[in-house]
Amino acid sequence: MRSACINCHAVSGTVATGRFGPDLTHLASRDTIASGAIQNNAGNLRKWIDDPNSMKPGALMPAMHLNDHDLDVITAYLTQLR
Ligand code: HEC
Repeated sequence: MRSACINCHAVSGTVATGRFGPDLTHLASRDTIASGAIQNNAGNLRKWIDDPNSMKPGALMPAMHLNDHDLDVITAYLTQLR
């Protein structure tokens, strides 16, 4: 919530109301991310947030350049959004 993620993503019930990227409210209930291109698991989510383009060339989300700690915390948060 403190980072630029919320400019592009929404999570229902939070201050995140971005509309450019996919709604992440029920992210952990889905089998895939990036329009079905990638299996939805913690390792792939972490890699995606670190550098979307490495997983899906031409991805519309920029690499966010987070440190390892922030990547771990955000991945843990995202994996419990059911
Ligand atoms: C400039 C806008 C933008 C920002 C900032 C941004 N994203 Fe994204 N994000 C996108 C777009 C667009 C996609 C869809 C990309 C695609 O499928 O090619 C996406 C996809 C995702 C996905 C996969 C969702 C799905 O349903 O497939 C996750 C998870 C995600 N972003 C998390 C984050 C996190 C966490 C941050 C902050 C660290 C962040 N994003 C910052 C635009 C953004």
